[in-house]
Amino acid sequence: MSRLLVTGGAGFIGSNFVHHVVTNTDDHVTVLDALTYAGNRASLAGIPENRVSFVHGDVTDAALVSSLFSKADAVVHYAAESHNDNSLDDPRPFLDTNIVGTFTLLEAARIHGTRFHHISTDEVYGDLELDDPQRFTESTPYNPSSPYSSTKAGSDLLVRAWVRSFGVRATISNCSNNYGPYQHVEKFIPRQITNVIRGIRPKLYGAGENVRDWIHADDHSSAVLTILDKGVNGETYLIGADGEKNNKDVVELILSIMGQPSDAYDHVTDRAGHDLRYAIDSTKLRTELGWAPSYGDFESGLAATIEWYQAHEDWWAPAKDATEAFYAGKGQ
Ligand code: NAD
Ligand code: DAU
Repeated sequence: MSRLLVTGGAGFIGSNFVHHVVTNTDDHVTVLDALTYAGNRASLAGIPENRVSFVHGDVTDAALVSSLFSKADAVVHYAAESHNDNSLDDPRPFLDTNIVGTFTLLEAARIHGTRFHHISTDEVYGDLELDDPQRFTESTPYNPSSPYSSTKAGSDLLVRAWVRSFGVRATISNCSNNYGPYQHVEKFIPRQITNVIRGIRPKLYGAGENVRDWIHADDHSSAVLTILDKGVNGETYLIGADGEKNNKDVVELILSIMGQPSDAYDHVTDRAGHDLRYAIDSTKLRTELGWAPSYGDFESGLAATIEWYQAHEDWWAPAKDATEAFYAGKGQ
């Protein structure tokens, strides 16, 4: 049994990871989460109290972080400001949490010698042309586009520097776009599902040609556990499930699964600096660590996600109106 500290464990992917750990291991989890607009304690409901402890606090609080590291065997760092559209509106919190927060955790890992896994994104690599045969690999040069992705790139580089300069025992993973339960309604897939439930037409940025490489959040979790178990300190692993789809196809699939005409959506103002395409080559993770995704079929994973949102309006409804008001103010 290990004692895991999970930052951002009340967010989308962090809470999916906590559920995955409780279901698949004997580990005890302590969640450190500031409960920003994106954090929700209800995402951890139903987990037995002897398996998870919750600490309401900030990853930039060095004294708190140090005390929690002293009691952990390993730390998985999910906490972040995660939404590109918000980073275009107000970048400052992205610098505080993603850069200063990661620095604060790395200092604690240095002092306490704690094993540290840093969760990052494929967006650090910039974007690809639609017809580019190459996908991102661990050796693709960093080229982030947005305030969000540039702060994630900066946090990755801090981890690499703390490994090389101070011998911190750390790994990094860069994953593609996640979908599944507990995702905030600001994000593309939950926004469109909850729009349809509410009788609002889905909103597609620009022409909808942008491609994202979708992976179920539970597959992201199994990959992170694999890296914690078998990953080599100092190494980076890309996580992806060969799930490339353009946004137009995803909206039309959501409408079709939900029994609506497949053209019942609106094109709205495009995102500034909108990355065209992400695509992950996860060969290293699969061949060196033996990981493989379980959710092979995007359509059935999406259908299960739609059912989850239909059954959990109490979870997402409190955030829906404010989210749509934010987008309406931007013509989106
Ligand atoms: P999210 O926005 O749903 O959750 C973020 C969580 O972090 C929330 O619970 C929030 O309360 C918490 N948090 C924010 N600032 C904090 C602070 N200063 N101190 C403590 N807690 C704080 O994000 P997500 O989509 O679950 O993403 C989690 C991680 O995974 C991020 O690091 C993100 O960059 C990375 N990632 C996300 C995706 C994706 O598709 N969503 C893909 C690849 C990587
Ligand atoms: O690639 C990994 C990244 O995926 C993570 O690092 C980020 O934390 C996560 O938010 C996600 O970033 P994206 O910007 O790709 O996700 P988002 O859900 O915001 O948008 C997905 C695509 O859908 C993108 O091309 C923009 C488009 N979009 C989004 C919204 C909210 C729409 O067309 N309409 C919308 O209403």
